[in-house]
Amino acid sequence: MSLQIDFSGRRALVTGGASGIGAATAKLLLELNATVALADLDGVRVLEARDDMRAHMAVQGDVAVESDAKRMVSEAADALGGLDLIFNAAGIGDDLVPLHEQSTERWRRVFDVSLWGTLLISRAAGRLMVEQRSGSIVNVSSIVGLHAFPGRSAYGVAKAGIGHLTKTLACEWGEYGVRVNAIAPGYTKTPMVKDLLDRKVFDPGLIERRTPLARMAETEEMAKAAVFLLSDWASYVTGVVLPVDGGWGAYGAAGDVVKIRHTEG
Ligand SMILES: NC(=O)c1ccc[n+]([C@@H]2O[C@H](COP(=O)([O-])OP(=O)(O)OC[C@H]3O[C@@H](n4cnc5c(N)ncnc54)[C@H](O)[C@@H]3O)[C@@H](O)[C@H]2O)c1
Repeated sequence: MSLQIDFSGRRALVTGGASGIGAATAKLLLELNATVALADLDGVRVLEARDDMRAHMAVQGDVAVESDAKRMVSEAADALGGLDLIFNAAGIGDDLVPLHEQSTERWRRVFDVSLWGTLLISRAAGRLMVEQRSGSIVNVSSIVGLHAFPGRSAYGVAKAGIGHLTKTLACEWGEYGVRVNAIAPGYTKTPMVKDLLDRKVFDPGLIERRTPLARMAETEEMAKAAVFLLSDWASYVTGVVLPVDGGWGAYGAAGDVVKIRHTEG
């Protein structure tokens, strides 16, 4: 095995590839010699991202619509000559209101883009990968899928579902040489989170004090974890939901970390 992660000859599809964690992961895959297709709902930004990062192709579509998901996978596979790697990063944030105040339409949309979209892309790509008897899929859960966050039931239920889907597909497809894993990011500096900070939905100081590494994550830190799981360096890893959260999930005391650090010190 190469001592460097090297994706030469590997063909990747990254959903949500026009922005944030998806774009950072696509860039890293390209730096490590993968052939990369970007898929995104935003048809303008996905073409800009393709040109900026010199990805091999871009396709517009909605991962939550079955015909779009199938088309994006088949167009990417046709253009690249097959698919070996999938990174399912397409997602949207929710309204941060309790269930009794949330509309059915919004709840369904958040749930559908995250969980249903991940399922549709994984199923379409999984059919190719099972046939070719190799492949690696990485999904994107969240700390919100591992721990309950009030006001985030649609997002949390979808992200928890992605964790379970990841484990189930790993068990179903392992015998065909197809690995399926997920990352569960903590707060990461992407447009999705910047929008929530701008609207003062999140308090950055509180997040930093609640996080053992005392800061939010960079998108590149999510990309590195995703790329590890996609790569042969994780050749015996499947069915894992890897928290990439600066220790957020490890911390359980009352009060924030900084306060405890200082009073204990
Ligand atoms: N940023 C965080 O702190 C954080 C934390 C945990 C999990 N996540 C997850 O990481 C993933 C990426 O989020 P991000 O923060 O980079 O957000 P982002 O908004 O920067 O990027 C998301 C991308 O997905 C695309 N997209 C949205 N709906 C789509 C659809 N229906 N079909 C196809 N593409 C669609 C958007 O156009 C956008 O380009 C999401 O699944 C998100 O839930 C983010």
